Amino acid sequence: MSDLENLDDLIAGNHNFWEQAAGVHGTTAEDRYYQLDRVIAGGTLMTSIEENAIARATAAPLDQPLSQVAGLDILYLQSHIGVDGVVLARAGANVTCADFSAVALQRARDLASTIGVSIDTVETDSRNLPELLHARFDMVYVTIGAICWIDDLDLWMSQVARALRPGGTLVMFEIHPVYQVFSKRTPELVLDFPYGDGGHFTESGSGSYADPSSAITSTTTNFAHSIANVVTSAVCAGMRIDRLDEFVELAFDPRGDDLLQQGGDGKWRLLVGRGMTPADQPEGLPVAFSLIATKV
Ligand SMILES: C[S@@+](CC[C@H](N)C(=O)[O-])C[C@H]1O[C@@H](n2cnc3c(N)ncnc32)[C@H](O)[C@@H]1O
Repeated sequence: MSDLENLDDLIAGNHNFWEQAAGVHGTTAEDRYYQLDRVIAGGTLMTSIEENAIARATAAPLDQPLSQVAGLDILYLQSHIGVDGVVLARAGANVTCADFSAVALQRARDLASTIGVSIDTVETDSRNLPELLHARFDMVYVTIGAICWIDDLDLWMSQVARALRPGGTLVMFEIHPVYQVFSKRTPELVLDFPYGDGGHFTESGSGSYADPSSAITSTTTNFAHSIANVVTSAVCAGMRIDRLDEFVELAFDPRGDDLLQQGGDGKWRLLVGRGMTPADQPEGLPVAFSLIATKV
């Protein structure tokens, strides 16, 4: 556990932000992220990164990524308003959404009911999962923006391992820690976030990544975890690393700030520096990673 004296206050600030954000996300015309209409109409907000990771973890063809999830017990950890959870449930998985935001879980239940699928929800801190979630799941699914809220990654990973049955897999898609260290591009490039080892950064602001114009006000704290921290914590929690992929492009802009630039191909990249090509094009730094790990 972190040795920060005011850790409980910092986590309470984060909780307060998430209760507000969960009430707003997917409800406003300005929301650039949670396009629930697409999901209700039968679509998905998963990108090829999550879909490929699920396909590889379940030995499904890459062009039918959810074809093998039917009947699997899946824990969607830090599920927020449950979007990917209902998509997995629609594909036949038995989905449990877990989050410490009661508002988020109510939104997930509402979305499931609108779509006509069944999900379970459990309100819990992911650093201390209740016994009813232990050794119950074939997959723990975690997506972008989860571990930056966790002060103690070893503890969090031990909870993931505890939730899995032997042979069960962690499927994780996250923001890359290299991208996290950058704060802004203009008027000058600023790097002010630690790279790993649980280093933290507290900031006050308004709005959210999905709807910067929303009336949310918050003081939030993010924690830094390097790729080495992620891999080592998974191994120390009793998991085998099956696959780790790093990505220099994304199909969307997760933060909605000025850091990523959209190319003519529609992809978003973190382009920094002069670059080494004859045309002086900057190179893309890593912006996301995915991990598949199996509980042995
Ligand atoms: C960025 S959201 C995850 C978003 C999700 N990937 C999606 O696409 O909707 C992060 C979630 O983590 C939850 N969270 C943050 N800290 C937590 C904790 N300690 N325990 C449980 N949930 C937590 C928040 O309530 C929020 O729903």
